Amino acid sequence: MLKLPKIIGHRGACAYAPENTLESIRTAADLGATWVEFDVKLTRDDVPILLHDDTLERTTNGHGNINDLDYEEIQYLEAGAWFSEGFTGVSIPTLEEAIDVLLEHDLGVNIEIKPSQGRAEDTTKVALDLLSQIWTDHDKILISSFDITCLEIAKDIANDWARGLLLPEEIPAEWAHMAEHLDVRSINVNGNTLTQSDCNYLLEAELPLLAYTINDPDRARQLQRWGIDGFFTDVPDVIEENLIETH
Ligand code: G3P
Ligand code: MG
Repeated sequence: MLKLPKIIGHRGACAYAPENTLESIRTAADLGATWVEFDVKLTRDDVPILLHDDTLERTTNGHGNINDLDYEEIQYLEAGAWFSEGFTGVSIPTLEEAIDVLLEHDLGVNIEIKPSQGRAEDTTKVALDLLSQIWTDHDKILISSFDITCLEIAKDIANDWARGLLLPEEIPAEWAHMAEHLDVRSINVNGNTLTQSDCNYLLEAELPLLAYTINDPDRARQLQRWGIDGFFTDVPDVIEENLIETH
């Protein structure tokens, strides 16, 4: 039975360590987070890795689109120094390496499938295939994506892994139909732009509602009062300390 937490470290704990790295996941665990979220895409030669952008420039010293590069071309890129000097030497992790760290720290995970252009099917299949070989705990995993194709494929090939419908800022009119069709276990919304009336509307689905990416404790408490169940946050320690106590 899926047990979603109140706090999910976003891209690890990306206010404190370079996003989507093993160090960021470890930092989230050290700060007391019990779950983390990270973004998964494929290299050209189908290695699932943790990376948010389609391109390498923002978070590494590499250049170009991940779709055009093999794993051996990106594995030694510098992915920590851009964040701070202390993280020099940190690299882009593979999904497999990230799962090892999750298991080491007994963390739950929201794997966000974030395919590059044209790679929705491959990314989902490769990531879920790897997961099915090394992950056994169905209570502590949620597969999400903004890309409906990814969630459809996940439903087809690994129906027993819980899925989360990741909604963009502009909530699509057909969200309830999508949630039903994809048989999702959570709805993940942009908590910074959400209005209370949209929140009420989404709560009609009677599914856990998770808000991304909430770093302001006042906003977290407001969303809690509106009925939000959990938060993706870059600062898991700060949000944890400031939530309203519930039972
Ligand atoms: O899954 C929640 C959040 O990570 C979605 O947005 O752009 O940070 O991946 P993004
Ligand atoms: Mg994400």
